[in-house]
Amino acid sequence: MLIQGLKRLEYRGYDSAGVVVANNGHLEVRKEAGKIVELEKLLQSDPAEGTYGIGHTRWATHGPPTTRNAHPHVSENGDFALVHNGIIENAGTLRKVLQDRGHVFSSDTDTEVLVHLIEEVYTTADGRAGESLERAVETALSQVEGTYGIAVVSTRDPGKIVVARLGSPLLIGVGENGETFVASDAAAVIAHTRDVIYLDDGDMATITKKGYTVHRPKSGPVSRPVNRVDWDLGEVERGGYDHFMLKEIMEQPSTLRETMRGRLLEDEGSVKLGGLTGMDDELRQAKRVVILGCGTSWHSGLIGEYLLEDIARIPTEVEYASEFRYRRAVVEPETLAIAISQSGETADTLWAMREAKQQGATTLGVVNAVGGTIPRETDAGIYLHAGPEIGVASTKAFTSQVVVLTMMTIHLGRLRGTLSQSRGREIVRALRQLPEQVAEILKMDNEIRALAEQYKDSKNFLYLGRGYNFPAALEGALKLKEISYIHAEGYPAAEMKHGPIALIDENMPVVVIAPRDGVYDKVRSNIDEVKARGGCIIAVVSEDDEELAGVVEHVIRIPRTHDALTPILASIPLQLLAYHIAVLRGANVDQPRNLAKSVTVE
Ligand code: F6R
Repeated sequence: MLIQGLKRLEYRGYDSAGVVVANNGHLEVRKEAGKIVELEKLLQSDPAEGTYGIGHTRWATHGPPTTRNAHPHVSENGDFALVHNGIIENAGTLRKVLQDRGHVFSSDTDTEVLVHLIEEVYTTADGRAGESLERAVETALSQVEGTYGIAVVSTRDPGKIVVARLGSPLLIGVGENGETFVASDAAAVIAHTRDVIYLDDGDMATITKKGYTVHRPKSGPVSRPVNRVDWDLGEVERGGYDHFMLKEIMEQPSTLRETMRGRLLEDEGSVKLGGLTGMDDELRQAKRVVILGCGTSWHSGLIGEYLLEDIARIPTEVEYASEFRYRRAVVEPETLAIAISQSGETADTLWAMREAKQQGATTLGVVNAVGGTIPRETDAGIYLHAGPEIGVASTKAFTSQVVVLTMMTIHLGRLRGTLSQSRGREIVRALRQLPEQVAEILKMDNEIRALAEQYKDSKNFLYLGRGYNFPAALEGALKLKEISYIHAEGYPAAEMKHGPIALIDENMPVVVIAPRDGVYDKVRSNIDEVKARGGCIIAVVSEDDEELAGVVEHVIRIPRTHDALTPILASIPLQLLAYHIAVLRGANVDQPRNLAKSVTVE
């Protein structure tokens, strides 16, 4: 059961794994560097039996991905074992203090200090009435600075798993037959139950064979609602596709439909966003919008900036969440802060959102994972409803994020009177056509695969776009670099002449996004500049473009749509191009090296 659960978390990206099971008064630990199959092999040659246990996949922060650094970590006396997500920031100081008291460490991790600390607290308190594993964990955690989602077992206080969260997700799965699970992600327990309790920061819980209890240190027991996970096991399986990434690219017609379901009001040129109910005053009064996100979510945020300024006429800035948090940003009164995150757990985005909130901003979430920390802490928000995204490279979440931002823009524009009904209707109509248009583009899969064959050995790629398609160029480049390991850069097409143009020669493929939109003629000039330097161009153009086919090496045709929606359509062939190049180069598409699906550390 533990291994199956870990396998469902494989997609998150990891470099080692381990389990501990409690067996008749002692703890059996097995761990191994590498993929879960390595751990499985170890368990076949050296089985571990027990009645309850915990497992972990590690993404290295402190110390290399070796077997000794893999979790679980065990106390010196072998009586306590724990797994930990997050970072213990004062691990260096604590380690020194513990070493001075005679503790000997056997790994380079920050986590190991915690198990030594728990052992020490428990051992010194042992024998006193009322002492328990919960108490020891609580006392040890009070000395820790940082973030954690932990699960602890001990032979001293058998028959229980004690868990605690601060900044790293944890949920309890409530089984139908009295069994209880705990995990950092619903995917790990969905095979057994869909009823989950999302723990809040600062919560602790105890799992025993009788069930679970949740409490808050200092204030006592609390009750947390049971939620029903609205997706099923099939959605975290590949369903006949070679990779999750391909499945997720291919399912975009239906994920986009889900994102828009029941939300478009075509006649009124408006939208209905249940998640923003009761927010009209804040939305009407907002003087400024700050969008916070990382990676792909930052790219969709950049499109959001263009949308909100162009259509709703609200001054907007998009910020890398990690920069926003530490640069003493000024948050003026009546600022709307929009946190965009597929996982809803990205630490940089979460903390940036908290910072904005603390400075008085109204916070909105644009999140895919229902029950994530970000949507639970923002004042309001809109879910993507794109279903679980398993491939590490974000695809369907990106297109759904842009659709949600478009709907949000329509809502704000209509509410504030900056968007007329007829213009609103045009955009809503264009949104409605998107799924069909995406399906059309996906039919070009073979054509794009052939293109990938031709360019798979290139060492560098440049992606160019202007206006709404500048972020699409950044996203195209990110997709290629993260899964194929080819260096790729995205640039605003006109900015190229201020530097990157020096790189252009016949060996540098240049992908230019050039649909027939408001900046077509400008991009056309940039294409000529590349051609004049011998560059080789793959252009994403509108279906009826007669001009560029004779100028560039390859054209990829996409249907016509509203200017603001062109980046959605343009992204689809670029996702496929990155995917096929990576596959042809033999890369592990779903779990690219060094990357994790949800980065819950700063
Ligand atoms: C790119 C990618 C990452 C994430 C980033 C933010 O394909 O997956 O760049 O977009 O780590 O993650 P979320 O959206 O979960 O906050």
